[in-house]
Amino acid sequence: MEVAETIESVRSLVKAARSKGSKIGLVPTMGALHVGHVSLIEAAAKDCDFVVVSIFVNPTQFCPGEDLENYPRPLEKDLEICEKAGVDVVFNPSPEVMYGAENLTWVTVEKLSEGLCGAFRPGHFRGVTTVCAKLFNIVPADVAYLGQKDAQQAIVIKRMVADLNIPLEIAVCPTVREEDGLAVSSRNKYLSAQQRKDAAVIYKSLQKCKKMIEEGATNAKEISAGMRRIIQQVPSAEIEYVSIVDADTLEKVDSIKDKVLVAVAVKLGPARLIDNVIV
Ligand code: PAJ
Repeated sequence: MEVAETIESVRSLVKAARSKGSKIGLVPTMGALHVGHVSLIEAAAKDCDFVVVSIFVNPTQFCPGEDLENYPRPLEKDLEICEKAGVDVVFNPSPEVMYGAENLTWVTVEKLSEGLCGAFRPGHFRGVTTVCAKLFNIVPADVAYLGQKDAQQAIVIKRMVADLNIPLEIAVCPTVREEDGLAVSSRNKYLSAQQRKDAAVIYKSLQKCKKMIEEGATNAKEISAGMRRIIQQVPSAEIEYVSIVDADTLEKVDSIKDKVLVAVAVKLGPARLIDNVIV
């Protein structure tokens, strides 16, 4: 496995692989790798001949007051995980390599990035789409692998790729969960033992919602009220949103007829946790 820290070095490694006819998979990450990330790497390794993982804690997607400084950066451990998973190249650039002295070009996906997390994290998706546009230009892959865990992010990136005619397929992989259903996340580390236990209400509320819809419930307001009641069983849980939206347009749905994305964001102590299901 090679570790590339510059754009030139990762480009030449990818170019060499491409000249051999290899299918190239890219897994963009911010490091602190866990089983969720590994599932993306495994999907890439299954479909592709050459797998690149990027590890870059992207400063432009953190809002003021968020955890940029404290975001975990266990590089040695991450490299071990990548090596074990059969990664060919880890691209680990510095902020200077990615953004230079001053970055004046930004990519924004309108509408899709404005609701859900976008409403609570101003500028977040602009940072995500800008860094992904850069990564997709630096590593010209055939397929990029993203997690359903960040459903809005996957939809926003897919739209950017389509609108900018980037020749790249986006594969969205299922959410990997802990035994009690909590979506695996780098931010789960911030939780105390009690908060970790309490965090299970998030998935419990999503399952309740799924069951209600499958049993015929259609009133989104009533369903989300039921979900809120479950989350509020944990008094310290601060609900940011419980939303039922169209799974493609992310527009709010009042009466459920088609495929919906049910998405939740909850602050629990020091951590902001998100999760979703498609019903
Ligand atoms: P990060 O949070 O490190 O996540 C990297 C990828 O792993 C994302 O596509 C995310 O959806 C996926 N992922 C995280 N937890 C998962 C889980 N439990 N199951 C399945 N997939 C999971 O998302 C980012 O980084 C950044 O915004 C990035 C796209 C790299 C741009 O900076």
